[in-house]
Amino acid sequence: MRKKIVAGNWKMNKNYTDGLSLFSEVVNMVKDEVRGNQQVVVCAPYIHLHSLAALANGHQQVSVGAQNAHQEESGAYTGEISASMLSSVGVEYVILGHSERRQYFGEDNALLAKKTDIALANGLKPIFCIGETLTEREGGTYFDVVKSQLAEGTFHLSEADFGKLVIAYEPVWAIGTGVTASSAQAQEIHAFIRKEIAGKYGETVAQDTTILYGGSCNPKNADELFSQADIDGGLIGGASLKSRDFVDIAKAFNS
Ligand code: PGA
Repeated sequence: MRKKIVAGNWKMNKNYTDGLSLFSEVVNMVKDEVRGNQQVVVCAPYIHLHSLAALANGHQQVSVGAQNAHQEESGAYTGEISASMLSSVGVEYVILGHSERRQYFGEDNALLAKKTDIALANGLKPIFCIGETLTEREGGTYFDVVKSQLAEGTFHLSEADFGKLVIAYEPVWAIGTGVTASSAQAQEIHAFIRKEIAGKYGETVAQDTTILYGGSCNPKNADELFSQADIDGGLIGGASLKSRDFVDIAKAFNS
């Protein structure tokens, strides 16, 4: 059975003390209210990670993730953070290829392939993001866009390494806009992604791959989205900044 995951992406929000209290609230609520095997991941800014990983220690259902990592092991890259630094403070996941990184920082599929390699080599689990823009959706090219992002960013991996990835489908037009993909739209493309994975790595790997939906996910729409056959959880931006909303989304998987 593939893993169900609800991951929060705080983006560039929350100073140190606010981040610590938000995370503590999440840990406590998860402990009291989350029933099932779903994993709750919080992807916070770098400065929080060491402390959050310490707070998460002992709470198996809660993990900490970063939002990015550099593509080289170490060296003269002023201002950057490496994958090995992240694992050294107890970080377990790393978001790679978020559309904001692609759009504002020029990250392309080739660079993301390198980042994926270095993250895996350092024991991190990448949450690899793919998704089309509004123009691509309206122009009908969205299957091709998603297919090439997936293939160029991850299909060089061995089967064993691919099995460590989490894929997140995030239509850019739904991120932070309040417009959510309908559950049918999301299911359609999640099934397509799983089919592409099956074509490359076989049906077993495809069935074992966790594919998250991201884009204006909230406590009201999570139930319906997560009940789709190929949607295994969510990557949550805005709603992850409120402990109540975030944990309510995670509870969509309560058994
Ligand atoms: P949103 O962001 O939930 O605020 O739309 C999702 C994301 O960017 O990961």
